[in-house]
Amino acid sequence: MKLFIDSANLNDIKTAVSWGIIDGVTTNPSLMAREEGVDFKDVVKNICKMVDGPVSAEAINQEADKIIIEGQELSKIHENIVVKIPCTVEGLKAVKFLESRHIKTNVTLVFSPSQVLLAAKAGASYISPFVGRLDDIGEDGMAMIDKSLQIIRNYHFESQIIVASVRSLGQVEKSALLDAHIATVPFKILEQMYQHSLTDAGIKKFLEDWVKIGK
Ligand code: E4P
Repeated sequence: MKLFIDSANLNDIKTAVSWGIIDGVTTNPSLMAREEGVDFKDVVKNICKMVDGPVSAEAINQEADKIIIEGQELSKIHENIVVKIPCTVEGLKAVKFLESRHIKTNVTLVFSPSQVLLAAKAGASYISPFVGRLDDIGEDGMAMIDKSLQIIRNYHFESQIIVASVRSLGQVEKSALLDAHIATVPFKILEQMYQHSLTDAGIKKFLEDWVKIGK
């Protein structure tokens, strides 16, 4: 499973990239808004310099023709740009057009198997079901991932499923068990992935024993 970092914070992205396990980045307007006083395109450009992999940047327009123009502009920033487009009729029209022009898209704000099917039929390179937000409304986000992957496999679609809106370590682990293509993970959960109390206890004990034998 590929691991993307879900962030627009350059320091966090730089740190995670230094660990050698990051395959790409996803951003969204809310993540961008957290980075005060910075220009959206500059942030995206800097992320592309740091990461050798797909970088999703979200289109803000709502009508297909405007999303297409915005997507074409975004794609000029760097060859690794993926245009993130919400799952609407207008959005999917834009996805079909942009993909036909070899501009990669990531269909976002996906919450149902029907939306996955439509996004895949439109030719999206990536599709992002939001597990955390489904859990928030009492639905089962990870069951949605299971169904999404089944749809992709049943019809041999080329779209890759990005597990998005990740809120816990358990969701990342379940994603890998379900054979998801990608999980996009906030920095604080990436940090948690390294941690286990038995690892810490084991290191402590090994070091204590090493001191005992006087080496
Ligand atoms: C994914 O591409 C989105 O940027 C993100 O995962 C949304 O997460 P949230 O529901 O925690 O805002």
